This record gives sequence, structure tokens and C-alpha cells, in this order.
Amino acid sequence: MSNEHVSHVVVPGTFDPITYGHLDVIARARRLFPKVTVAVAASLGKNGTGPVFSLDERVEMISSALADSPSFEGVEVRPFTGLLMNFCHEIGAGGVVKGLRAMTDFEYELQQADLNYRLSPGTESIFVMGSPEFGYVSSSIVRELAALGSDVSFLVPPVVAERLAERFGAAR
Ligand code: PNS
Repeated sequence: MSNEHVSHVVVPGTFDPITYGHLDVIARARRLFPKVTVAVAASLGKNGTGPVFSLDERVEMISSALADSPSFEGVEVRPFTGLLMNFCHEIGAGGVVKGLRAMTDFEYELQQADLNYRLSPGTESIFVMGSPEFGYVSSSIVRELAALGSDVSFLVPPVVAERLAERFGAAR
């Protein structure tokens, strides 16, 4: 293991779309590390279906959401394709920060962290506990509610609620 200090971390995800839960994790990562890059995976999507929003749309929504608050000063947003560990090397990030909501997240995250360790033992996997307020928030819940016409403004920043309304005709 290297003794080098980690000062730059990545918060990776598909962000389809970004939620208040993600923003909470990004703000926590920024409190802990001076440099944070939000890495937006091109992703084939879960269950073989592609993301609802294009990579460009997801990057744009995240950038707008981050612009609203000083907690995100110095946070960069970048799309990536391929392996997360390669992307970390490319931008010189020494760790990956992810949020844990519940035990159900743990198994999935442990599997990814183990795999990433195999690929790049020097890159730290760091987990933060999200605010309990957002414990039930996920992008898939947001997509489902929006598709069913529900108001989702309590789960996502205004820019995302607007985009979902355009996409699904959801109430705002
Ligand atoms: O928000 P998500 O969809 O749970 O994020 C998953 C993500 C994008 C972090 C993960 O799928 C990922 O790292 N994808 C890039 C490809 C890769 O490196 N795969 C091997 C590690 S799982």
C-alpha cells in the first residue's frame, strides 16, 4: 500500500438522474477531500436497458445542480467510459467515494470494491453514510415515480424535476 496522501477522489455513478441522495454524498466527499471529481459512467444501464438520460444530459444536470451551492465549490463533473480504475489513474485520483444507504447496498458495493482492488490495489474505496433523510432515495425510485406522474421535487434538484417532467410529463 502506498503512503501517499489522498487529496483527489472520484464520486462515480450512473446518475440517471442525480438525486438529493447523490448530492449529499458529493458534499460529504468535498468536506473530506480538497478535490472531488464526479465521474459519470456512460453505462449500459441496469438490466440491459440503457439510461433514460444521455451522458451529456446527465453531466449537464449534475453541473447545474452543483452550481447552486457553495458546498460544491471546486467539484468537477466528468463523463467516463470503460473502467473506473483506468479513469482514476487518468485523472490522478487516489480514491473512490460512495454512499451507503442500507445493508442491501453493502453487498453490491463490497463486490465492486473487491473487484476495483484487484484492478488497482492503490486506489482506496471509501464509504460514507448518507443522511438518513435520503436513505430511501434512488435514481430508479425517482424514474418510477416520475413515469407514474408523481411529484419528485422532494427527491431531486429543480433542474432534474424539470427534465423529468419534460420526459415523462410528471407533476412538479
Ligand atoms: O450509480 P451506479 O450505477 O451504482 O454506479 C456504478 C458504477 C458506474 C460506479 C460502476 O458500474 C462502474 O464503476 N462502472 C464502470 C465500469 C467498471 O469499472 N466496472 C468494474 C467495477 S464494478
